[in-house]
Amino acid sequence: MRQAGRYLPEYRALRNKHGFMDMCKTPELAVEVTLQPVRRFELDAAIIFSDILLPLEPMGIEVAFAEGDGPAIRTPIRTKADVDRLRPIAPEDDMSFLMEALRATRSALAGKVPLIGFSGAPFTLASYAIEGGGSKNFVLAKSMMLAEPAIFQRLMEALTDMVVGYLNAQVASGAQALQVFDSWVGALSAQDYASFVLPHMKRLFAQVNHSVPVIHFGVGAFHLLPLLAEAGGDVIGVDWRTPLDEAWRIIGGTRAIQGNLDPVDLFAPPSAVEARVTDVLSRAAGRPGHIFNLGHGVLPGTPPEAVALVVDTVHDRSRRA
Ligand code: CP3
Repeated sequence: MRQAGRYLPEYRALRNKHGFMDMCKTPELAVEVTLQPVRRFELDAAIIFSDILLPLEPMGIEVAFAEGDGPAIRTPIRTKADVDRLRPIAPEDDMSFLMEALRATRSALAGKVPLIGFSGAPFTLASYAIEGGGSKNFVLAKSMMLAEPAIFQRLMEALTDMVVGYLNAQVASGAQALQVFDSWVGALSAQDYASFVLPHMKRLFAQVNHSVPVIHFGVGAFHLLPLLAEAGGDVIGVDWRTPLDEAWRIIGGTRAIQGNLDPVDLFAPPSAVEARVTDVLSRAAGRPGHIFNLGHGVLPGTPPEAVALVVDTVHDRSRRA
């Protein structure tokens, strides 16, 4: 997740010449950025370069990435009329740049490693759409949930429809695995997740194309693990806060588990990085169905050598195990 990006000098060189959205929407650039980390490191998969917020645009939600400020929604969704105005998307047409990037990346990879497509999960997308950007306490999103549950549920339905069509189009365009990012789901209590999110996630996983593995990732969601597993996904991705052996105790046996080195560990000296990688692997304890990953995206400023060290340490330890 976010294995491309600003920590790589070759990304920054391109980014100096192009806006972030332009890079996502120009297939040649999106392919190039997707391949950059795969060229540099012995990674076992590529994830297509895009952003979870892009498919909101054809629904009628204006998205902007202001320099240094993170994403901003110019037309937040606050009322019933706002939700009524949302349009269903035609992913092959509305997101043709992404579909083209997937096809071209797949052929450039030539079977070397599989290609992962992705989407934001409905709750995370709904929160962005309602709040208008990042948020600390999700006051607006949670207020709509409680004060106007029917409007909130309709928004979740519209987003779930979009996500299903969008992910299935990605499989048709060459994605060999899918990841659903519920980055903000940790803001919810288990009770609210069960009432307002779980039914939509169950439908999402029931309707998504299961000819490829589907990874379901939540951030800050230790308290929600049984519910995330109940919602669906062949693989549950856990963030860096969750002890991996605990995750196995709670949901193991039923699902593969992906995770979960703290991205900040990559700023530590090499011996500490190796010790942290070893700790994650020892918690996985050689169980089948462990996919090593960071427990969230690579941060800007991360030394590329630390990423190389992580990849090589995982491969070395896994061969010996
Ligand atoms: O590794 C890859 O190539 C995958 C590409 C990828 C990006 N965003 C590129 C990106 C993926 C998988 C995402 C997902 C994404 N985007 C999520 C879910 C994962 C997570 O981190 O929880 C979320 C919440 C977003 C929304 C988003 N996009 C934010 C909050 C930001 C700002 C981040 C920051 O540090 O400023 C973005 C911008 C973004 N998306 C960048 C990249 C490479 C940085 C853009 C730049 O070059 O300025």
